Amino acid sequence: MPIKAPFLGPYRLQGFFCVFFLACGLAAKSDPTFDSGAYYQGRSGFFGGSGQLYYSEAFMSNLAVLGTQWGDEGKGKIVDLLTNLADVVVRFQGGNNAGHTLVVGDQTYALHLVPSGILHPEKTAVIASGVVVDPDVLLKEIDELTQRGVTITPGNLKISEKAHIILPHHKTLDQARESGGTGPALKIGTTGRGIGPAYEDKAARRGLRLGDLRDLDYFREKLILGLAEKNCLFTSLYGLPAADPEPVVQAARTWAERLLPFITDTFRVIRQAADGGFNLLFEGAQGVQLDIDHGTYPFVTSSNPTAGAVAVGAGLAPRDLNSVLGLVKAYTSRVGEGPFPTELLDQTGHLIREVGREYGTTTGRPRRCGWLDAVVVRAAVELCGVDSLAVTKLDILKGLPELKIAKSYLLNGQEIDYVPAALKDLDLVEPVYETFPGFDQDISAAKTLSDLPDNARRYLDRLTELVGAPLGLVSVGPERGQTIVLREFFR
Ligand code: GDP
Ligand code: IMO
Ligand code: MG
Repeated sequence: MPIKAPFLGPYRLQGFFCVFFLACGLAAKSDPTFDSGAYYQGRSGFFGGSGQLYYSEAFMSNLAVLGTQWGDEGKGKIVDLLTNLADVVVRFQGGNNAGHTLVVGDQTYALHLVPSGILHPEKTAVIASGVVVDPDVLLKEIDELTQRGVTITPGNLKISEKAHIILPHHKTLDQARESGGTGPALKIGTTGRGIGPAYEDKAARRGLRLGDLRDLDYFREKLILGLAEKNCLFTSLYGLPAADPEPVVQAARTWAERLLPFITDTFRVIRQAADGGFNLLFEGAQGVQLDIDHGTYPFVTSSNPTAGAVAVGAGLAPRDLNSVLGLVKAYTSRVGEGPFPTELLDQTGHLIREVGREYGTTTGRPRRCGWLDAVVVRAAVELCGVDSLAVTKLDILKGLPELKIAKSYLLNGQEIDYVPAALKDLDLVEPVYETFPGFDQDISAAKTLSDLPDNARRYLDRLTELVGAPLGLVSVGPERGQTIVLREFFR
């Protein structure tokens, strides 16, 4: 039976939707490139209006967009593009260590916490319980976006009451550890945003959650308890002054006043949307090799940017995730410390960084660059059930005389096809490359695969063979329109 979904704002009638997708299906049959126009124009473009909406389960299709490498694969651009045909866009892990850049016409937006779907005011954006939230950063982001004309209201942004708060002392601890002041501590090269310490407190069951802002006496009590332990570390280990809880309690009043209207039970929002047959888009942050369980530990972040975390971090039954789009940058980049087998420390690496503008969206740090690593991407395909690939930044490779893809590694003279877990092995592996002729043509206006030079297509074909997943789209520039869409992502 159809379910009424009043909380989702203005939506279109499903009957028209059927006709639309039938048309798209026919278009897809007659042309190997799927009707990308739909993604640029969106659902409201076809069915604009604010009628009462009823959807049935038959149309449910939920998609996760995940980074397959070490982050910065272009997730923001692709989520913004696909939001046109989604109804609800959900961030489910990470925090403001993420930096997702969106280019729309002459405007560039750098988002850290607010889901990249926010530029579409008629859609619902959700920050779910798996995210750690720095309230000051979130409020600043909301204010800056609002000043630039983006609509953000409790109607279109829902924030989980269960999401943990990044408190000022989490940032202090993160930065104190990274500064190396206590001797030979491991430097991870974190973003310094307090992500690790906030997740630590969550796992230690002493974190504060956004819902705790409803009761500031309780908030104060728990804050003081938590600080008792942190202040021991600050004063005796790091030579820092003890942190004073009172300014934080003061700040929490502002957080409560401004954020409580947005704070809700997002599990219900997501559940109702899934049951109502609305299209859910899950926006990953970071990438699989930064996953705390499956990445290049300990040089990882403190959450799981993998498909399994969609269920946990958003509160979605695993069976409700229908499809996973794996984002693959046409080469590899990494920010911070840690192993990177295909890193290029030569002129080619420098060239890729400059042409690709590989500087961190969050910290401005230069990103380390290297050849595409099919071993890494294959691991993501297997671990996340990636059913199609979005290859981004192919345009950046233009002009390189030859291109390389690592198909396997050599470890102590033996060929292996997986990323070893032990750091000492990862330091020893040597990539086994396949080499391809490069391409000179400007591809930034390509609309179909056949617009690409043969050498670019050969590179893509071999990539898909090596990693075991087909192409879903190819991105040839930062703008929405610079995308070749090859499949339907939402039914
Ligand atoms: P994310 O963290 O995965 O969202 O990626 P970032 O936004 O940190 O980094 C990707 C950068 O590449 C951004 O500046 C995007 O605007 C840009 N970008 C995305 N796709 C393309 C593309 O296909 N070509 C080019 N030239 N730039 C792109
Ligand atoms: P997006 O979503 C690239 C890296 C940091 C560091 C490690 C741990 O933009 O792809 P943390 O602050 O999370 O404790 O740092 O993880 N890192 C990222 N690298 N893109 C990101 O996000 C990242 N988020 C964290 O550089 O090496
Ligand atoms: Mg980024």
